[in-house]
Amino acid sequence: MQIAIDGPASAGKSTIAKLVAKKLGYIYCDTGAMYRTVTYMALKDQLPLDDETTILQHLSQLQIRFAPGDPEQRVFMNDEDVTLAIREPDVTNNVSQVAALPGVRTELVERQRDIAAKHDIVMDGRDIGTTVLPHAALKIFMVASVSERANRRYKENVQKGIKTPLATLEAEIAERDRKDSQRKVSPLRQAADAIRIDTTRMTIEEVVAKILALVAEKKQAD
Ligand code: CDP
Ligand code: CDP
Repeated sequence: MQIAIDGPASAGKSTIAKLVAKKLGYIYCDTGAMYRTVTYMALKDQLPLDDETTILQHLSQLQIRFAPGDPEQRVFMNDEDVTLAIREPDVTNNVSQVAALPGVRTELVERQRDIAAKHDIVMDGRDIGTTVLPHAALKIFMVASVSERANRRYKENVQKGIKTPLATLEAEIAERDRKDSQRKVSPLRQAADAIRIDTTRMTIEEVVAKILALVAEKKQAD
């Protein structure tokens, strides 16, 4: 069983995907973390972010691995735990540029399909339903208003002690949405057979319950 969850930044994809995977006993694959890891590598190695050839050479030497962790799944770049580093603003503000490189997408999509071939899985990202897993049993396209998404990021930041103004967060999210939706290769868009869920006024529990009900419906229909 493959469940694909796509949508713009901070719509709630990863929070919900993790909980759904846990409930069903499936693994969770955070494809955004993979694009973030490549971006982190490029920044760390001081590679020009438009030099696809060099980035691909470095990527070929790079293992990106998810490991169980408590409470969060950990992300490893070779032997380095990059779980926190890939969430830093520098990575967040540059990831859309790296994710637009066609060769990077080809390589990561291949790795994502390899992971999905081996397990029942919940995978979240931008192009899972359209490109990575076009035959997924259930496809969700999760959205929320920009102001609600900026609010959510703001609250997360407050907990981490980061004080970026709400207006800045809103502008950053809108800009990332624009870049992700307008890129040539696998832009962010809803698959024709995806179910749209607007989480603006929904709690996390409500969204999880809705998806579990859709999974149960699918299983019954098969
Ligand atoms: O969690 P957040 O919404 O901030 O983003 P993410 O899922 O960690 O993804 C970070 C970035 O990676 C996105 O803004 C996209 O540029 C890129 N991405 C992508 O292009 N394709 C995917 N399947 C997943 C992420
Ligand atoms: O993965 P994505 O960027 O789509 O979003 P996320 O990181 O899962 O969610 C962003 C924030 O919104 C988290 O702090 C969630 O707890 C929160 N959230 C919420 O308040 N209500 C929802 N229905 C979904 C997520």
